[in-house]
Amino acid sequence: MCGIVGYVGDRAATPLLIDGLKRLEYRGYDSAGVAILNGKGIETRKAAGKISRLEAVLASNPVSGNSGIAHTRWATHGAPNECNAHPQMDCRGHIAVVHNGIIENSTSLKARLVELGHKFVSETDTEVLAHMIEEAFDGNLEDAVIEALWQVEGTYGIAVVSSDDRDKIVAARKGSPLLIGLGDGEYYVASDASAILSQTREVVYLDDGDLAVLTKDGYRVIDLRAKDLERTVHKIDWDLSQIERGGFDHFMLKEIFEQPETIENCMRGRLLDEEGTSKLGGLNMTDEELLKFDNIVITACGTSWHSALIGEHMLEELTRIPVEVEYASEFRYRNPIVNDKTLCIVISQSGETADTLAAMREAKNRGARTYGIVNVVGSTIARESGGGIYVHAGPEIGVASTKAFTSQVIALALLTLKIGRLKDVSVVRGKEIIHALRALPGQVKEILDRAAEIEEIAEEFKRAQNFLYLGRGYNFPTALEGALKLKEISYIHAEGYPAAEMKHGPIALIDEMMPVVFITPHDSVFDKVVSNVHEVKARKGKVIAITSRDEPSLVGMLDYEFRIPQTVDMLTPVLACIPLQLLAYYIAVKRGSNVDQPRNLAKSVTVE
Ligand code: F6R
Repeated sequence: MCGIVGYVGDRAATPLLIDGLKRLEYRGYDSAGVAILNGKGIETRKAAGKISRLEAVLASNPVSGNSGIAHTRWATHGAPNECNAHPQMDCRGHIAVVHNGIIENSTSLKARLVELGHKFVSETDTEVLAHMIEEAFDGNLEDAVIEALWQVEGTYGIAVVSSDDRDKIVAARKGSPLLIGLGDGEYYVASDASAILSQTREVVYLDDGDLAVLTKDGYRVIDLRAKDLERTVHKIDWDLSQIERGGFDHFMLKEIFEQPETIENCMRGRLLDEEGTSKLGGLNMTDEELLKFDNIVITACGTSWHSALIGEHMLEELTRIPVEVEYASEFRYRNPIVNDKTLCIVISQSGETADTLAAMREAKNRGARTYGIVNVVGSTIARESGGGIYVHAGPEIGVASTKAFTSQVIALALLTLKIGRLKDVSVVRGKEIIHALRALPGQVKEILDRAAEIEEIAEEFKRAQNFLYLGRGYNFPTALEGALKLKEISYIHAEGYPAAEMKHGPIALIDEMMPVVFITPHDSVFDKVVSNVHEVKARKGKVIAITSRDEPSLVGMLDYEFRIPQTVDMLTPVLACIPLQLLAYYIAVKRGSNVDQPRNLAKSVTVE
């Protein structure tokens, strides 16, 4: 991932492609590149970092032609450097590919291609596509792309050009958005309409399984059997800023709504249904090594620290290995008990948080094996940890973390499953967890479809001065996360507590002005939380409850209720946090806050 633009026509392609890439900058990326058909062959220019660096490369070494493809990359396989930037080429430099998505079977495809004599230069899964198209090429680019795509598992939005079938772009989509822009004697392909909106407002959205062939004389949409398809031409009447946010008012809302997809991405290719376990390619540890740890320390900051607390609960329950969770900022200065029998898990969306990085280095110095659960590929934590799990949530632009949090919890569940199955967890239990994991994207979507219910609750409480969030077991960290989301974007004071701790102090705060959010799905501590609800109600507090089914013990006790679907206990935070993210979001919007860039906060805290 992240942004694709392509052009074929009579005008100079390079400036149009660069303009398109710049309009995709808001999505976040870490390298960029173009491939231009110059009349003789394909020339590529690539650069790590910002598009301005690519422009500098082009200024010193220009390239011109009337068709080409371009890409901004947000690394998923391999570090964000020039070599891994797209376009990726085949062996002879006659085929160039840009790609969003993940080719899940790239390892086995690559092994086969290497046997056939193909030479690879990058660490990307995308390069595999270029070589597969080369292997299948027999004079017609779309035929070769079709043949290659039949062998691919995973997701893709691609654009391909070849110097052996010139002035043509072949684009295809499965699970990663792509559209065609229609001009007068010129055509575009883009992953996002904002890239081409300054040139045309007429677009054709490709569906999964569609392949488009673009020349300056026209376009065709066909399926993977080369059968022609009818696709409607849409006229875009949105403005640019709306399109960048995919029609959502804020990036945060867009990211909240992306969660069915990002949760799926985190699990993709990692679940072994029959064995009831997970497969984690980046672990860099044998099963024997994984079993040799005496203890696990998880260190992180902020929202990532909350997912760590959920991970602690999961790991201890299923693996019986003692787990400690530490704020990275505390861990680094407190002479922690860590040694070569310790597995230190470091969780970070950005992979650059200074405290987390320092904590990881400290653990390493003391002999621990370090393992990263990171979103940004090639980030410092990802590079310096001995192995890890990329959570594949995609660029998170809203400062308040949402989709990265749910993906971190999924990654921790996958790790728990892996170690648990190596220990005492039965295959039946493993399968039950996998079944629940597989249901999550649909269940999250079900919750999101009812966002309006949360908006109504937000309307009621938008003027509140304080909030309490209470939960137990797996949902004590969810309470912390709900409170953090609210305070950081709405500036309302909010506290998260283990529900039973309320009577040891915070209960003094409860009166008719105090909204109390109970996270109380039907799990093993449900009955205990019910008593706490009664205690709040007895003091006239306003109860907002996240529940999962009809419960006689709660009748008449709840001022507002939001139902989430049932799942296994360890995954309840993934579902319960969604209404809390929405509640924070809607309250903040109603109070007029700058939701995506709340005051005093930075997306990546690279200072101590
Ligand atoms: C809260 C939030 C922060 C981050 C924290 C750690 O919404 O975004 O609390 O979770 O700064 O950042 P990463 O995960 O990038 O290390």
